[in-house]
Amino acid sequence: MAKDGDKARYRAETLLSVLGRDPAANHGVVNPPVYHASTILHENTAALKEATFGPREYGRTYYGRFGTPTTFPLQDAIAALEQGHRSYLFGSGKAAIVAALLAFVKSGDHVLMTDSAYGPTRAMAKGLLARMGVETTFYDPGIGAGIAGLIRPETSVVVAESPGSLTFEVQDLPALADAAHAGGAVLVVDNTWASPLFCQPLRLGADLSIQAGTKYIVGHSDAMLGAVTATEEHAEALRHIFEELGAAPGPDDCYLGLRGLRTLSVRLHRHQETGLRLARWLRARPEVSRVLHPALEDDPGHALWKRDFSGASSLFGVVLEPVPEPAVEAFLDSLALFGLGYSWGGYESLALPTYPWKLRDATRWDPACPTLRIYAGLEDADDLIADLAQGFARMAEAREAAPEAE
Ligand SMILES: Cc1ncc(COP(=O)(O)O)c(C=O)c1O
Repeated sequence: MAKDGDKARYRAETLLSVLGRDPAANHGVVNPPVYHASTILHENTAALKEATFGPREYGRTYYGRFGTPTTFPLQDAIAALEQGHRSYLFGSGKAAIVAALLAFVKSGDHVLMTDSAYGPTRAMAKGLLARMGVETTFYDPGIGAGIAGLIRPETSVVVAESPGSLTFEVQDLPALADAAHAGGAVLVVDNTWASPLFCQPLRLGADLSIQAGTKYIVGHSDAMLGAVTATEEHAEALRHIFEELGAAPGPDDCYLGLRGLRTLSVRLHRHQETGLRLARWLRARPEVSRVLHPALEDDPGHALWKRDFSGASSLFGVVLEPVPEPAVEAFLDSLALFGLGYSWGGYESLALPTYPWKLRDATRWDPACPTLRIYAGLEDADDLIADLAQGFARMAEAREAAPEAE
């Protein structure tokens, strides 16, 4: 039977195979079983009282919502990959974002949020946080150390997402962390794009790192899952909000998350390669004005990406040259291999029209040209390119049919 060996010695690729399982404790079965549990029985009243009133010990079962032998291994694996102290799981990436913020804000506080944040994260600031009496100031994702000028005595959280949703700006996380800490705030980073394999924000100074597990961790578009990882200093605050919210994920989704982790490295490296091929091909097309992909050498975020990331995932933006909307729709509708749908991180390629200029408060997104989000899946890159090429042919036909719409 394979032994885990000394986990501290292993590189991330090896950790993906050895973390979160213990065949010796499980009849030699390679993968851990799925525990479907709400009620956990305690041996007698003394044990029940101890579980109820005693100190909460991490990794011990009390009640299904607080963790089970199915959720602990996935939490531990994500914590190790993120190089954090403790991770907690939630029923979606959005729930993980809500938890990370609620752990640190109270009425009267101020939050600084990147203008490039995922739409529902922005919506949370303008909705739930505003209703709680928490004010949010959006900041330019390129602000770096300049964020110090926006920090107020009541600023409790700085929210970063790197690269940003839809527009893919890379943020200077160490500079943001230094300024946040000097002002007494915590830095929370949505690290979903890179996955814990290609970036570890806690190593760069952040206090919490968020994963929408729905994306690359699960990897097959078939489960809802989120995770927040904290440093040792903030692990207790995270445990509190985890217990207060009670938004625990289902056991089968956790199992799919743990199974997804096993192949994360091979998938991500292939996604990276295909994503870059598509990005380079698209950049050379006359229909394309700009490709938003930090691993491209001339991308404004390339130097920071090279400094802080060990790889690029396969989600990126494309700004088209001015073209009537029906022609963009003809392009998207003609694609056979790129599905039209939200989320990403599965094996299948996706495309979406996006409207970044509608999601800006602190900065202007210029020009308001048709913009797409492309997600490169695991299909053959040449097949994907052929599909995009026929899509551009359909776009040209639609443009000729309705030139007056331009
Ligand atoms: C960057 C980012 N963060 C968080 C989320 C939210 O994840 P979920 O759909 O699991 O709530 C998404 C979903 O698209 C995302 O793209």
